[in-house]
Amino acid sequence: MSQTPASDGPDWEARFRDSDAPWERPGVHPALTDWAQDGAFDRRWRMLVPGCGRGTEPEAFARLGLSVTGVDMAPTAIAWQQARFDAAGLTGALLAADALAYRPDAPFDALWEQTFLCAIHPRLRPDWEMMAHACLKPGGVLFALFMQKDEPGGPPYGCGLDAMRQLLPGQRWIWPEGELKAYPHPGLNAKPELAARLIRR
Ligand SMILES: C[S@@+](CC[C@H](N)C(=O)[O-])C[C@H]1O[C@@H](n2cnc3c(N)ncnc32)[C@H](O)[C@@H]1O
Repeated sequence: MSQTPASDGPDWEARFRDSDAPWERPGVHPALTDWAQDGAFDRRWRMLVPGCGRGTEPEAFARLGLSVTGVDMAPTAIAWQQARFDAAGLTGALLAADALAYRPDAPFDALWEQTFLCAIHPRLRPDWEMMAHACLKPGGVLFALFMQKDEPGGPPYGCGLDAMRQLLPGQRWIWPEGELKAYPHPGLNAKPELAARLIRR
């Protein structure tokens, strides 16, 4: 992922049209598979996937029986998601919109954060936190994969744990105990993503 110098951020739509998307995984994120095996997802849940891009995770959640909403600003990515859902006979709400400004009519049970937070400029992180908090019901679950990267700049912008704990403070979020499992990213030089399951207060 690299930033276009002339703009505020990458032209995501162009990146998808050019298939210049090194963040894309060959399959479903292994953290989703691990959490699913642990029974972390309730099929009665409504799940929000902001910045879903062309990830296969929205489809995976739909296949698990969850009610999925995917939001992405890039119409090409949303059209791709819709085509996949249609081909699989699945239903979901797939919206071409600014995910940071998105507010649902009714709050979600869970939110899946995967390479969206690291893709936006750090100055927008408070907007992301407000979105996540507003979109989840009290007791809702934030499944987050925090991209670890020491070099400055981005995207991807590093989401070190000190910064994440400041962004997601204990008054608003309950953090898990213990070490977070690291998942190396196959397309981004094996940069680790730390998997955390937080509860919205
Ligand atoms: C690095 S990609 C990750 C896509 C997907 N989560 C994945 O793991 O393959 C970042 C995504 O965030 C989307 N995005 C960036 N800013 C956004 C915003 N404000 N609202 C909605 N989507 C946004 C881009 O269009 C892109 O699909």
